Amino acid sequence: MEARPAVDDAALGRGAWSVLDANRAGSATVPAPGLYPHQWNWDSTFVAIGLARWDTRRAGAELLGLLAGQWRTGMVPHIVFRPARTEAYFPGPSVWRSRENPASPNGTPTSGLTQPPLHALAAWWVWRHAADREEAAALVRRLYPMLVAQHAYLATTRDLGGGGLAAIVHPWESGMDDSPVWDAPVGALPAVRYAYRREEPPGCHSDSHQDRYVWLALRYRDSGYDAAYLREDHPFAVEDPMFNGIWLASCQVLAELAPLAGADPGPHLEAAERIRAGLLERLWSDGVFRARDLRTGRLSPVSTVGCFGPMLDPGLPADRVEKLVGVLESPRFMGAAGYPVPSCEIRAPQFDRSRYWRGPSWVTTNWLLRLALAVHGRTDLVRLLGAGTLRLVRQAGFRECFDPFDGSGRGSGDFSCSAALTLDLLADNVGI
Ligand code: GLC
Repeated sequence: MEARPAVDDAALGRGAWSVLDANRAGSATVPAPGLYPHQWNWDSTFVAIGLARWDTRRAGAELLGLLAGQWRTGMVPHIVFRPARTEAYFPGPSVWRSRENPASPNGTPTSGLTQPPLHALAAWWVWRHAADREEAAALVRRLYPMLVAQHAYLATTRDLGGGGLAAIVHPWESGMDDSPVWDAPVGALPAVRYAYRREEPPGCHSDSHQDRYVWLALRYRDSGYDAAYLREDHPFAVEDPMFNGIWLASCQVLAELAPLAGADPGPHLEAAERIRAGLLERLWSDGVFRARDLRTGRLSPVSTVGCFGPMLDPGLPADRVEKLVGVLESPRFMGAAGYPVPSCEIRAPQFDRSRYWRGPSWVTTNWLLRLALAVHGRTDLVRLLGAGTLRLVRQAGFRECFDPFDGSGRGSGDFSCSAALTLDLLADNVGI
């Protein structure tokens, strides 16, 4: 564990701002210096959330910059490349070849995959917390049609199981890249070997796994990012509870934002109901929500932090909330960890306290779970999660993730999401 002097709230806040300023590149904030030199999708939504209370304009620019990469299909790509650094990350634009696709935005190279649809929630957070109400309302009006197109894409092209849920077609789309939930579907892909430059932080998957990830991305690319191919042939299609829980929450807040754009909130509430029904019918099993592999029909045997995603839904039935909170508090997750919330259940054979998404705690998922618990009035746990998360960054800095037992930092340093959400936690801790 790195020895650091005790950091008070003011110093922590200053530290967070200096990370966000150092990682600023035009309108975007890159996730971390060196390792992630482009604009990442859900990272930018977390950055906008963190900026919401202080800098409406910058938060808005972050979201608008990301959505400049939106495809004409409505898909919001998981990476928007900064032209000056095109090949500074693998897989870069020459791998994705987005510009060869007529649906991609003119001139902006992007990846061909998406990430969790936190965008409407981020827009709502900015609108809810902005000091400058007019600027925030104008931002909502600009973002609204883009958010509607994104949700329509998920409801049509991505409802691969026909049950109202969106399927991810690559583990990178989950934001939880190396989670053990993907081991079975990825293990079923052909073994391949590529010679390419690797930029993964230590603690990532073995090379053979990464090769399969690349193979999967290339297969989708070689289909021309085709919707029919996804339905009929693509070998990876998974309904993930966190992705869909986030989408549901985004539908609900989109209904609140709709009147600002002179639109009808009804369709967004109906979409939320469809997703809730899908989650309950298709992913609830044995006291938690589990990812469903659409190619085998199997539910994931391993529980991860993603299982709690549907708690973001205020309409989730109380008995399910109780069960989930019980699991979260138990030694399977928070009960046996020194710091919230391990990304994988501690008793699972795949649990590894240091490996990326296979054990370490993240500020991002802690923030989402804290919001979910607040939605269900679990103030005790909200406070515990907020304090535990602040303890992590105070002790180890704005790291990408943390050992859930001793709190030591893992992955990249100066991680924008961890810095941005710390600003939000510091502000919010005041009244709780
Ligand atoms: C890794 C993380 C993902 C994040 C990206 C950029 O791929 O797993 O959640 O969006 O890095 O920070």
